[in-house]
This record gives sequence, C-alpha cells and structure tokens, in this order.
Amino acid sequence: MKLLVCGGAGFIGSTFVRLRVREHGDAVTVLDKLTYAGRRENLHDVAAEIRFVHGAIEDPVAVADAVAACDAIVNFAAETHVDRSISGPEAFIVTNMQGTHVLLEAARERGLRYLQVSTDEVYGSIEHGSFSEASPLQPSSPYSATKTGADLLVSSYFHTHGLETLICRGSNNYGPHQYPEKLIPLMILNALAGDRLPVYGDGRNVRNWLFVEDFGRGIGHVLAYGMPGEAYNCGGPDECENLAVVERILALTGADESLIEYVTDRPGHDRRYSLSSEKLQALGWRAQVRFDEGLARTVDWYRDNAWWWEPIRSGAYRDYYERHYGRALKT
Ligand code: NAD
Ligand code: DAU
Repeated sequence: MKLLVCGGAGFIGSTFVRLRVREHGDAVTVLDKLTYAGRRENLHDVAAEIRFVHGAIEDPVAVADAVAACDAIVNFAAETHVDRSISGPEAFIVTNMQGTHVLLEAARERGLRYLQVSTDEVYGSIEHGSFSEASPLQPSSPYSATKTGADLLVSSYFHTHGLETLICRGSNNYGPHQYPEKLIPLMILNALAGDRLPVYGDGRNVRNWLFVEDFGRGIGHVLAYGMPGEAYNCGGPDECENLAVVERILALTGADESLIEYVTDRPGHDRRYSLSSEKLQALGWRAQVRFDEGLARTVDWYRDNAWWWEPIRSGAYRDYYERHYGRALKT
C-alpha cells in the first residue's frame, strides 16, 4: 500500500511505520509536526526507506503535499497526555479535532480510505465487565472528549459522504520509544535513577495493557479487513492496578519499594478501562505479548537505550516534570 501515516514520529505511529515497511513493504509517507512527543530518532532505522514531511495535520497545505500519491491515510497524530489536557486543553482541540477534520477533507477530495487511531478512553470508566463497540461514548477528560469528537466526525464522513472510514480504539499501550510522561516509562526511568515514583490517589486504578507491536498489527488488520463505517476495539490481554505495575517495575529494576510516593490524584481520574476485542478477533487478530513478558522487554529496552531518553530527561521534560509534580527530577 501507499500510506500516509500522520503522527508517525510518535510512540505508536513509529512502531506502526516500522511494521509496515519491514513486514508489508509499504511505501510510507510520514506527516508529523514534531511536537515534544514526536522525534525523528523514533524512525532512525527506517529513515532511508520512508518519505518524511514536517508539518501539522491542521495545515491543509502540508496535508496536500504529504498525501500526494497515497491511497490511504492512517491518523495517529494527536496530543495524547491526559494530564496535559487538564492543564492546557487548547492544543488538544486544534490537533485532535480540527486536524482530523482537515485530514477527512483531504481523504474525501481524493476518495482515499481513512483510518482513525482512537482510544478506549472514549467510553469512559467501567467498574465491571468490558466495553464493546456498541457501548455509549462517555469521555471524562478534555483529551478523551477531543478523541470522541474526532471519532464522531469520522463516522459522519462515512454516513454523509460515503467515505471509506475505519476507527481502531486501543487500550493502554506500552513498549519502546514511549515518552516518559506516561506511567510505565516514567516509573522505569525514575526507578533506574533511584528517584521517587509518584503514584496518583490510592494506586488502585486499573488499565488494560497492550504491547505496542500488538496494537500496530491490530491497526494493520483493521486497515486490511475492516468494514467501512465500523469501529474496532483493540484491547490488551491483561489488566493491572497501577500499584501492581509499579511493584513489577521495582522488581525488574532492583529498585527499593521505599521510592513509592502517593501524590495528589488526577482530577476526574477514570477508575478502570477494559475492552472486549471480540469484533477484531473475528477478523483474525490476537494480542501476542502478555504483560509480564512485554514489561520485561520494555525495562530492558530503556536500560539499553539511554541515548534515546537522556536528551529528553535533560530538556523541556524537566520543566514539565517540575511544574506537574512540584519537584525536580533527581538526575
Ligand atoms: P505520542 O504522543 O507518542 O505521539 C503523537 C505524535 O503526533 C507525535 O509524533 C507528534 O509530534 C505528532 N503530532 C502531534 N500533534 C500533531 C499535529 N498537529 N500535526 C502532526 N503531527 C502531530 O502518541 P502515541 O501514544 O503514539 O498515540 C498515537 C495515537 O494513538 C493517538 O491518536 C492516541 O490518541 C492513540 N492511542 C494511544 C494510546 C496509548 O496508550 N498511548 C492508546 C490508544 C490510542
Ligand atoms: O487508555 C488509552 C490511553 O492511555 C491513551 O488514549 C492515552 O493517550 C494514554 O496517555 C493513556 O492514558 P492514561 O491516562 O491511562 O495513561 P497514563 O500513562 O497517563 O496513566 C496511566 C495510569 O497511571 C493512570 O491511572 C494514571 C496513573 N499515573 C500516571 C502518571 C503519569 C500515576 O499514578 N502516576 C503518574 O505519574
């Protein structure tokens, strides 16, 4: 395929690009604004095999340049951190909603297949059981509200214009190249540095963990076999309370339990996410990586790739960390 991958320099997008180039031989163009979360380094091993366009999805000129000669758009580009959406939601509205609209228009004008990468957070929190694609959309945070708005806009282009749209909603991803504002890489890097591990609230919130390559393959499955106009959930094989995640990371890094520090809870913090992926499994997809194995691989990757994270921890991330947690990173 000839794919335009928007947000392909981010955590999941770069994993998807690598899979498409290596396993499918696709011709890939990446369009990415290179925000704090997007890095050319994430694509270093496939840089010679792809076309890279530096630009924003909300810019129709950049999109028109990037989309030339492509036959499908896969949109990962987004502001993605819930905490940042609480302290500053504007960029989330511009990228996640206006940007999606510009991409949909580009797809409509050219008759392209369009896949929107979405999240389990559009369904809100669930105490028992799992969400299916028929569950109501009840987002809690500004982040998930903008992702929900984007999903609804995508569906409207199917119903109104007959555009071949697809939506793939993933649960919490983890793995190499994830920016350390997110729970797992933050805890790994702090544990390796002997720094404190800030657990929100009582640490009993539950997330449904999905190894990033499993999500990349799930998205590829939806792109190949999905029914236009439909949404597909892509959930991980294991659920885990945050505190248990942190304890596993302590065991894998050899850090001391005394590093755990309970801090003020996130406002509106969703208690539990859980997805049923039966619809995607019926298309032949299965998650391959269990949480214990994926977490060990992830800890090993961060331990072996200081070249990747050292520039982040010495840059603007330090300011963000101090602002958000009220104290400086140790190293
Ligand atoms: P990320 O923050 O690591 O990467 C986002 C990428 O988008 C970056 O490369 C950034 O530079 C780019 N970007 C941001 N604004 C842009 C703009 N206006 N124009 C062009 N590029 C822009 O995010 P991620 O964790 O890889 O998430 C990718 C997608 O998957 C998002 O749509 C997110 O909502 C969704 N998702 C994430 C998870 C998760 O657990 N991380 C789970 C389910 C779904
Ligand atoms: O569920 C999919 C979503 O997963 C994606 O759509 C989002 O883009 C992605 O950021 C992620 O959202 P979460 O809010 O679940 O992920 P985060 O890593 O920020 O937090 C995971 C859990 O850990 C959550 O319950 C909050 C908690 N947490 C997080 C941080 C950063 C802490 O206890 N301490 C922390 O310092």
